Amino acid sequence: MLKVSGIHSYYGQAHILSDVSIEVNAGEVVVLLGRNGAGKSTTLKSIIGLVRPKAGTIEFQGQRIEKLAPFRIARMGLGYVPEERRIFTDLTVLENLEVGRQAPRAGAPTWDFTRIGELFPNLREMPQRPGGRMSGGEQQMLTIARTLMGNPLCVLLDEPSEGVAPVIVDQMAEAIRGLKKAGVAILLSEQNLHFAMDVADRAYIIEKGAIRFSGTMEQLRANAEVQAQYLAV
Ligand SMILES: Nc1ncnc2c1ncn2[C@@H]1O[C@H](COP(=O)(O)OP(=O)(O)OP(=O)(O)O)[C@@H](O)[C@H]1O
Ligand SMILES: [Mg+2]
Repeated sequence: MLKVSGIHSYYGQAHILSDVSIEVNAGEVVVLLGRNGAGKSTTLKSIIGLVRPKAGTIEFQGQRIEKLAPFRIARMGLGYVPEERRIFTDLTVLENLEVGRQAPRAGAPTWDFTRIGELFPNLREMPQRPGGRMSGGEQQMLTIARTLMGNPLCVLLDEPSEGVAPVIVDQMAEAIRGLKKAGVAILLSEQNLHFAMDVADRAYIIEKGAIRFSGTMEQLRANAEVQAQYLAV
């Protein structure tokens, strides 16, 4: 589905990502774990085209995308939910969702308000609520839901559990499992190992812009040394 091979990314002269390779197969939930400043967001931005890798290749559905504009990559069915929530505060929940709507896509589930409500019960209760009058967690859910309205095959989620209340974190985990069940592949970035354990099939650990570990959640769970060295546990 998604294959990142040996990418190097820079901000100006600063060499941020070094030889990063990540694969996400159809139907998989993969987590990119790492501490603050490790390079998680830069990796996701490089995949979606907001940061241009200077070397390496990125394939989505067998097509090279590392030189395409972000909107073209999105139209191929690769959704992206940035760290900072980007909802329209003056628009209602329903209107925010309409903004994200794209045509149905072969091989991907098609989303509407009813189906979104099954994934995010909170949103079902507030179709007419303006975005600006929602909690941070609800806004986070709406941001994800709006990306789903583009009927993606795969979604990049940048720290979905960050800064949201514990009860919302549980709902977010449930939603990610629901997304997987619906057949959407997911690459998420996280610092929260427990959240990652709850939702992911496989993990990569990034530190100082390089991948230091790759394995199943079981392998990571059993590896206290790697956890202690690279994660805040
Ligand atoms: N726009 C930018 N210009 C210059 N340097 C940047 C920029 N954005 C990030 N960096 C630097 O790149 C490195 C990786 O940052 P990145 O945002 O990818 O980390 P992260 O793993 O997402 O961290 P966090 O958990 O805090 O979100 C950091 O050293 C950061 O300071
Ligand atoms: Mg980040």
